Amino acid sequence: MSSYVISGAKRIAGEVRLPGDKSLSHRAALCAALGEGVSRLHNFSPSLDCERTLACLRALGVPIEIEAGMTVTVGGVGLEGFTPSAHTLDAGNSGSTIRMIAGILAGQPFESTITGDASLRRRPMDRIVHPLRLMGATVHARGDRYAPLTIRGGTLRPIRYRLPVASAQVKSCVLFAGLFASGMTTVEESVPTRNHTEIMLAEFGAQVSAVGGAISICGRPRLRAREYRIAGDISSAAFFIAGALALPGSQLLVRDVLLNPTRTGFLEVLRRWGANVAIENPRRWHGETVGDVRVTSRPAARTSRAEPLVLEGALIPAVIDEIPLLAVLATRMPGGIVVRDAGELRVKESDRIRATVENLRRMGARVVERADGLVVAGPQALRGAEIEPEGDHRIAMAFAIAGLWAEGETIIRDPEVVAISFPAFFSMLEQIVER
Ligand code: S3P
Repeated sequence: MSSYVISGAKRIAGEVRLPGDKSLSHRAALCAALGEGVSRLHNFSPSLDCERTLACLRALGVPIEIEAGMTVTVGGVGLEGFTPSAHTLDAGNSGSTIRMIAGILAGQPFESTITGDASLRRRPMDRIVHPLRLMGATVHARGDRYAPLTIRGGTLRPIRYRLPVASAQVKSCVLFAGLFASGMTTVEESVPTRNHTEIMLAEFGAQVSAVGGAISICGRPRLRAREYRIAGDISSAAFFIAGALALPGSQLLVRDVLLNPTRTGFLEVLRRWGANVAIENPRRWHGETVGDVRVTSRPAARTSRAEPLVLEGALIPAVIDEIPLLAVLATRMPGGIVVRDAGELRVKESDRIRATVENLRRMGARVVERADGLVVAGPQALRGAEIEPEGDHRIAMAFAIAGLWAEGETIIRDPEVVAISFPAFFSMLEQIVER
């Protein structure tokens, strides 16, 4: 296991364009596989997670080629053209892969087994097992809750399903399974979660409607192949944006970022902190909002607020992947942060509440752990420390950013874990950091 050393930086300056959004890339690969004809997916995410989705699809008989510059060509097989995999499918570390592909496996008239790494095998799968069984698939899970999952399906029953947890992965699983049901499948959500699956399925030709938190899909459509350009990953951009805001005098332009409103909670939170974040050149790509994000950090204190910023309720799903980073950034902000209603963080790639609290403490921070969140005082100084990401890419990257203003050296253990979502993280960071 290697380590990566970060030392203090003066500012961030420059212009970057990021690899494709991970959430969009998974879905684009799945929709293209389900389509009829050859799709070309440009700026596909080079993440290990998305590689897992491609590998699973290949194992199910979908021809896939990767061209230079991350254009992925997918020979769609239609709803009926998948073939049984000769071996157990491996979703690696990727919750999106296992939960979304499970929806497709539930529509296949053959048995498949899908599993993942030790972290993924600890994450709850009963949330998808239950609705897939209601639709008529036979699903076996370890202890009725965990991967490996063995799934056999065929033609499914349409259901109306109310999500018991705010989860776009579960919603997507049911919508993908709904493609194989004869009739209309509806998922109801009380709190909006990222809506890329519904937008993209419609782009590939499915009949989808979303009315007041009820998303419906008509079963057995013919999906058509597409040329699709994937916008830059906002959850990756978030690290550089946070770094720029934390270092006075920074100037950063991030081009072609995905700005779907279900994903931009992070930018909203920054604005509440008084940050200067501007969206330029907004446009639509395949039903998704895309734009350039310009961040200018003022040399003076960003805000005079002394009350903590409270993140709770419906805002949580819109910032779920950015909470460790916001907790770190809160150490720069007067009043700090209080996070509530975020118990889901405990069942991500790591227990992100615990991992964030423990690593902040290693850096000398005052922080309180709660069952469903945390409290970080701010402003407070951080000192360099040895960071243990616990196999979690977003923890590694959030604390690498903290290292930019911590006193002394910050050592990120196991840094290659960033490749789960953002293989070029450290090299791009070094390009925009001024020391
Ligand atoms: C994702 C949904 C979220 C998020 C994950 C990606 C997606 O997970 O944390 O990184 O692409 O649908 P949940 O649906 O489990 O909340």
